[in-house]
Amino acid sequence: MPDQSRVARSLELYRRAEALIPGRTQLISRRSSQFAHGASPIYAARAKGARFIDVDENEYIDWVNAVGAIILGHADDAVDGAVKAQIDRGSIFTLNSALEIELAELLNEVIPSAEMARYTKGGGEANAVAARIARGATGRSLILFSGYHGWHDWYQSANYLVDPESGEFPFAGIEPIGVPAELAGTALPFVWGDLAGLRDLLRAHEGEVAGIMMEPIRSELPPPGYLEGVQQLARAHDAVLIFDEVSCGFRPRIGGVQEYLDVTPDMTVLAKAMSNGYPMGAVVGSRAVMEPASRMFISSSYWSDNLGLAASLTTIRELERRNSAQRFEALGRALSEHINQALSDVGLGGSCGGMFWNPAIHLKLPDESLRAVANTIFIQEMARRGIHCNMSFKATLAHTMEDIELTAQCAAEVFALIKGGLESGDLQQLLDSDLTKEPFRRLVR
Ligand SMILES: Cc1ncc(COP(=O)(O)O)c(C=O)c1O
Repeated sequence: MPDQSRVARSLELYRRAEALIPGRTQLISRRSSQFAHGASPIYAARAKGARFIDVDENEYIDWVNAVGAIILGHADDAVDGAVKAQIDRGSIFTLNSALEIELAELLNEVIPSAEMARYTKGGGEANAVAARIARGATGRSLILFSGYHGWHDWYQSANYLVDPESGEFPFAGIEPIGVPAELAGTALPFVWGDLAGLRDLLRAHEGEVAGIMMEPIRSELPPPGYLEGVQQLARAHDAVLIFDEVSCGFRPRIGGVQEYLDVTPDMTVLAKAMSNGYPMGAVVGSRAVMEPASRMFISSSYWSDNLGLAASLTTIRELERRNSAQRFEALGRALSEHINQALSDVGLGGSCGGMFWNPAIHLKLPDESLRAVANTIFIQEMARRGIHCNMSFKATLAHTMEDIELTAQCAAEVFALIKGGLESGDLQQLLDSDLTKEPFRRLVR
């Protein structure tokens, strides 16, 4: 029987949640099946900077950071100070707030594609707004997409086009239960990196495509010229090009991937990191694409909330003041170097690489069927050493070189365990937790 006492309270809460909350968590990526259930913490009590304390009073270095929503560090003094001051002035007014205009002006300054902005409280919701605007602005229905874009019907309806159990994109294992089947065919996936495939899809649906929505990057650089090619195709077919920068925004550069790679879409979707932990999302874009939204029914009470606006304004200014792009580059490169050093010191095959704002470990294994076990053991053993991560890492500006060194030291110990397990042929015996599960597939590498 594995020793689960280290996370006993977390496990007890998770059991209680089963009877009270369908699916137990609000975000699929927060399910304990995403980590090493039995060893990983599930509930946190408090967080500050690069660390959190779980409900069992264990301390962790956090490399997940609210799935990217935290960028400056947990409970950042500047952002929290601005939010607390705003609470004293009123969290939401009867009238509109001038902060809406101030943030739109700041977004216009920092996001290359921004000329006008609409706000929401989250990323999926902002994508639904972007899809509505693209459809309304073009008078067409079809959206082509590549990536993960949230839970809404417009997007999840694509799941009807594939056998969910086939392992094929986009959402193996998650059925579109509750999504109207009549929407099937109104959003079609395309494979990231395959320009010819997108060209064929556009030709097959000539005159029907309202928007091309994509995560411009997830874990590797696009092939040279790819994003420019997508932009040309969008223009040639009069479709709105939408970058979903909910996950990749703000870290590579404050202006996101579009600034980093110098490709400006017509519209951009932002959320998560833009407000360092306060609910906020935005759709920004060119005047030509955004202006028609003034005649569309896109409206919600809490989109006028002042706290997200105050948090966003302060977060973006603090990213500028703290020299974020340079620091993320330094942190990401140092983390990859230290983990690669640990792999080579131990003599375990594999590498840590990918984009500097989200380095990922790929272990070299004799047999692909061992991957889920090896990855779960990594997550499990890192958790026991006070490091909360999965196979990739998202730093915040609160992470230090000391955090990186400590993480790499722990990783070296865990790599040695995995190497021993591989050599003895009994890796499985190191597994004290349930296997980690991939929640859904993304169409972008
Ligand atoms: C690229 C991308 N778009 C949209 C979303 C959905 O955002 P939210 O969870 O805030 O609704 C996510 C969340 O992971 C995302 O990664």
